[in-house]
Amino acid sequence: MTKPKNDTFLRALLRQPTPYTPIWIMRQAGRYLPEYNQTRTRAGSFLELAKNPDLATEATLQPLARFALDAAILFSDILTIPDAMGLGLYFTEGEGPRFERPLREEWEIRDLSVPDPHEHLAYVLDAVGQIRRALANEIPLIGFSGSPFTLACYMIEGRGGTEFHEIKRMLYARPDLLHRVLDINAQAVIAYLNAQIEAGAQAVMVFDTWGGALSHAAYHEFSLRYMQRVMQGLERTSRGEIVPRIVFTKGGGLWLESLADIGADALGLDWTVDIGAARARVGDRVALQGNLDPAVLLTDPHVVRAEAGKVLAAFGSGSGHVFNLGHGVSQHTPPENVAALVDIVHEQSRAYHA
Ligand code: CP3
Repeated sequence: MTKPKNDTFLRALLRQPTPYTPIWIMRQAGRYLPEYNQTRTRAGSFLELAKNPDLATEATLQPLARFALDAAILFSDILTIPDAMGLGLYFTEGEGPRFERPLREEWEIRDLSVPDPHEHLAYVLDAVGQIRRALANEIPLIGFSGSPFTLACYMIEGRGGTEFHEIKRMLYARPDLLHRVLDINAQAVIAYLNAQIEAGAQAVMVFDTWGGALSHAAYHEFSLRYMQRVMQGLERTSRGEIVPRIVFTKGGGLWLESLADIGADALGLDWTVDIGAARARVGDRVALQGNLDPAVLLTDPHVVRAEAGKVLAAFGSGSGHVFNLGHGVSQHTPPENVAALVDIVHEQSRAYHA
């Protein structure tokens, strides 16, 4: 009903045939683009930019004006949920995200509740609607959220860049409290992603950036299980079309077989995994998204060509691959290298879809 003109990304996620391998790039809107930095200056700060639907729409469209990307991703952040829960998100220059009121006391965890996205995150839903109108059905729009566990890391540590001592102390000493936080987070993620789908998101991605910091057993109990709950709670279709789901545990290469069973259509891979070996392990259960090392984009178009070619060859022939980086694009990336990557993937991948 509302299929985009270029639906290669949605088809690849569902392992349907495409003429070439679609590509988008994690953090495709951001500080490596001079026009993004201008928009952010105009907004005043990253948060003011993210909370203003007009400016968030502008930032979302910036990489699309430069590169022939096969998907757009909502310009926002995973930390909008804990912000809506009242934890007081702020950013300090060069230090990344922080919370004024991290979860420290048992009563704070007991008091935590699921925010209504239509009330507390309306700015995100407004941005989704505006972006869809601006895209005019050319390419699909990806909505996203953090995973329950990754959100809990920020909510309990109160900041990024830690060794996870606070959350791990809770995980081992008071697992009941952490389960309470994760239960609320899973409900919040489901409500938030379903609201994004209702507002027009055509695929959704769950970023489990810190699941890879867990032990084998803890990963299954505290991250994977809650992502499975999220998958079960998501709307499968919207306006007559399937809404594919992507799950990305950074550092999750050891657990791909388990991840393939939680109800996602595709798994994101970081660059530590051989994508061909990953494909053999998950078989036809899921598509794969990834997994060029973002550092390759710090070099030059010749190196980009060679390294992108290796990823395409490692996946091999057939459908079910969405090209991406293994994590977000670095702010030190020359935009010309991103342009080269997109063109190279489009050209070189045709041979694998003959
Ligand atoms: O991919 C996209 O283009 C969509 C936008 C997007 C942002 N954050 C914008 C952003 C997405 C998908 C995210 C997700 C996100 N945010 C994650 C999961 C993905 C990952 O990278 O692991 C995480 C862990 C966060 C939390 C977060 N937000 C951090 C750690 C930071 C600071 C990082 C940094 O580079 O300084 C942010 C801020 C942020 N989110 C920026 C952008 C473009 C940079 C803010 C700025 O303009 O200064």
